[in-house]
Amino acid sequence: MPASPKTFHVKSFGCQMNVYDGERMAELMAAQGLTTTDDASAADLVVLNTCHIRERATERVYSEIGRLRKDAGEQGRKPMIAVAGCVAQAEGAEIVRRAKVDVVVGPQAYHNLPDLVARAAAGEAALDTDMPVESKFVHLPGRRKVNPSAFLTVQEGCDKFCTYCVVPYTRGAEVSRSFSAIMDEARSLVDAGAREITLLGQNVNAWNDADDRGLHGLIRELDRIPGLHRIRYTTSHPNDMTQGLIDAHRDVESLMPFLHLPVQSGSDRILKAMNRQHTRDSYMRVMDRVRAARPDIALSGDFIVGFPGETEADFADTLSLVDAMGHAQAFSFKYSPRPGTPAATMADQVPAEVMDDRLQRLQAALNRDQHAFNLASVGRTCTILLERRGKLPGQMLGKSPWLQSVHLIGDHQIGDLVEVELVAAGPNSLTGQAKVKAAA
Ligand code: 5AD
Ligand code: SF4
Repeated sequence: MPASPKTFHVKSFGCQMNVYDGERMAELMAAQGLTTTDDASAADLVVLNTCHIRERATERVYSEIGRLRKDAGEQGRKPMIAVAGCVAQAEGAEIVRRAKVDVVVGPQAYHNLPDLVARAAAGEAALDTDMPVESKFVHLPGRRKVNPSAFLTVQEGCDKFCTYCVVPYTRGAEVSRSFSAIMDEARSLVDAGAREITLLGQNVNAWNDADDRGLHGLIRELDRIPGLHRIRYTTSHPNDMTQGLIDAHRDVESLMPFLHLPVQSGSDRILKAMNRQHTRDSYMRVMDRVRAARPDIALSGDFIVGFPGETEADFADTLSLVDAMGHAQAFSFKYSPRPGTPAATMADQVPAEVMDDRLQRLQAALNRDQHAFNLASVGRTCTILLERRGKLPGQMLGKSPWLQSVHLIGDHQIGDLVEVELVAAGPNSLTGQAKVKAAA
């Protein structure tokens, strides 16, 4: 029987929402009197906050458990292991069978983590993958010290059912948190040191409340919080880019000129098979409107290559869309069949070597565009939010309004907003030169 843990370590995989959930679980365990440690192999309790979006993510969890047991075992320790997140939701008791872990807890049930840990310590089964009607957020403690750039989940789940995606099954139906809960959390994040907040949701631009505020209404209210200098949001669906939200990009100064708006494919045939509910053209028209409102917006996105049935002609449509859009950055993935999703059993699965080849060609195009975007930023003056120290003496790393990594040398503190001129650009980062030091 594992003893009651005194120290814990949370390790998050996957998306930013998992990072946020990991922070909330850490706050929850700290409120129970446990101490956090940076070294997973020295912790009494290790929480693996997992991602199920692609195959390798799942396999990584099992190898992580194996490695953890080995490292801890070499020190004569046997930590309690809790698997949280989307693999926990999807695999449930299978993880206990396969990896003999102590606790399994889904993404909508992690407010019960202390109770599950106590049950595991008492030698009882400890599994909770319920999706309670009452929000877990009600049961979580307040925010403590946070980074200058903080995450805030405002919406969870997805009702869109793209045929490749597990999210509607692992995160459940679309639920928006209430306006007042979000405003309270945003204020406490700012009190705890946040200067930038990224609003998170699987379909964040579908956020709404009983007063029909819409995400743009929420952003306009957040903009009024003193000390909150920057607002971002992710991830969005093209069909939920309302005119109100587009107008907010024109009007609200603290709303950063960056938009993560995945298109997945440039082929209408594939978009239809993916059940994306938009076309290549409707997506491009949305982006025309966004760019009319905010010409300097940095576009980000996600792409999948090798969706079942994707031909070379379909892939050529994706490349031509990329050429037409000029992404500032983007993520691209090989299609991974997920158990239980409609696409997993579709005919014409694309061979691995074809996917490899397409991914390479797509990434070459996206890297080229990212570098071009960075080069075009040279000479701009902008504000950088400093997030951490660099490796060189006096070097600080931060983010531009367009979410580029910028490094600069100078006498600054983490959390400072520094006005710089961007003087040089590489594929992945830029060099800034401070003009005046903004007050901290
Ligand atoms: N295979 C490959 N990529 C996927 N994504 C989601 N599901 C899959 C899958 N089954 C990608 C999409 C999504 C991002 C978060 O992950 O591009 O936007
Ligand atoms: Fe991964 Fe999606 Fe779950 Fe995030 S919501 S952890 S991306 S499966």
